[in-house]
Amino acid sequence: MSKIKTAFFCQNCGTQAPKWMGKCNACGEWNTFIEEVIQREVKGQPGSPTRDPRTVIPTRISEVTFRLETRINTHDQELNRVLGGGLVPGSLTLIGGEPGIGKSTLMLQVALKCSDQKILYITGEESDQQIRMRAERLGFTHENCFILTETNTQSIFRHLESLAPGIVIVDSIQTLQTDLIDSSAGSVSQIKECAAEMQKYSKLTNTPVFLIGHITKDGSLAGPKILEHMVDTVLQFEGDRNYGYRLLRSLKNRFGSTSELGIYDMNDAGLREVSNPSEILLSQRDEAVSGIAISAMIEGQRPMLIETQALVSSAVYGTPQRSTTGFDARRLNMLLAVLEKRSGFRLGHKDVFLNIAGGIKVDDPAIDLAVVAAVLSSNQDIAIDSNTCFAAEVGLSGEIRPINRVEQRISEANKLGFERIFISRYNTKGLESKRFTIQIIPVGKIEEMYGKLFP
Ligand code: TYD
Ligand code: MG
Repeated sequence: MSKIKTAFFCQNCGTQAPKWMGKCNACGEWNTFIEEVIQREVKGQPGSPTRDPRTVIPTRISEVTFRLETRINTHDQELNRVLGGGLVPGSLTLIGGEPGIGKSTLMLQVALKCSDQKILYITGEESDQQIRMRAERLGFTHENCFILTETNTQSIFRHLESLAPGIVIVDSIQTLQTDLIDSSAGSVSQIKECAAEMQKYSKLTNTPVFLIGHITKDGSLAGPKILEHMVDTVLQFEGDRNYGYRLLRSLKNRFGSTSELGIYDMNDAGLREVSNPSEILLSQRDEAVSGIAISAMIEGQRPMLIETQALVSSAVYGTPQRSTTGFDARRLNMLLAVLEKRSGFRLGHKDVFLNIAGGIKVDDPAIDLAVVAAVLSSNQDIAIDSNTCFAAEVGLSGEIRPINRVEQRISEANKLGFERIFISRYNTKGLESKRFTIQIIPVGKIEEMYGKLFP
């Protein structure tokens, strides 16, 4: 009998060490090392796909057979866009998110919508009755959707071989267990090995595989972090419990851009795709309130209008407070300094609070002008007309700078019924303003905008 081999693994980042350590050298976390058995058979792995290394030889890149990339439609427009235009055959996608955020719901919904594909939904978290109940709640079903309640990868691969599904969904990677490794499900070495087996399967059979992975608030559960480099795409499903909607972001994508954002609305009958994000990002208000400015932003490829709220009040304590939600606090400080120094607005002794509506985080610089307008509106206590929006960056000398894809932003604002949009004077070159019914107001300096905004 061979000797049992063990090693210590950081449960946070997956670093392997021969002995226990208090602090992980790689990620700096304390008390994360746990001993795990790493007994591994080398040959004759039952069930798992293996490839004879002799059949693979180095090939010139020009001689590799080139197939036009085809994408599988997931029948979920938000997911399709975040994936970069659909699902790539043979890709491995990880969907991470906190427990209860709606990962299982999203994936089951995809499984139930793709009636043109044979889909296998493997679950180690719920029973088939529970899945059926959820499917009833979602309200649609089809003949090609199969459920498998199994956690052992060897027997999963046997089923995969006989069923040969078009798409595989694993809920969740933390529940899988392979016979090749002797530690408990959910440990770092199990997660790594199971993901490697799924990866091998997806590449050999050209089947797209979704892996669901949990992360807890403090990131203490092993999983998504160690898997990030193994998979092709990492999607993060997130949301605020206070709001009904959920955001699907891509953190890594070998087949598309990572700046795309998918938005869903969680209701009684599952997740509804929100194709017009402005509808939830603009708060409904009847009376005009000061301190609110709308910005025409672009997330990924998609323009959206988003509300910026500012509150400026006299500081009660000696040091004024500056606090932001969804916006970089240093950027706010910079904009306040520009307002003070370049444009002569006295804000140094004022508390400034800034909030981007809807819990969205923004890093598009085009929001600057809306932030400045909201701050000035709150400071003067004059409301900005609700049919006005903004799209420009603000520079250190108080100049209003051009931004990219201004036409797309203007046309979105136009579509949503806005009547005026402030943009940078340098953005007007080649702009066909006659195409739009919205009034375009080019400005070059903050004072100029101020004069036109509050005449
Ligand atoms: P779930 O998909 O089980 O989360 P995860 O797999 O990420 O742990 O989602 C659970 C939550 O979603 C739960 O709090 C109830 C809510 N939900 C709805 O609001 N509507 C629905 O139709 C469904 C199926 C779930
Ligand atoms: Mg779940």
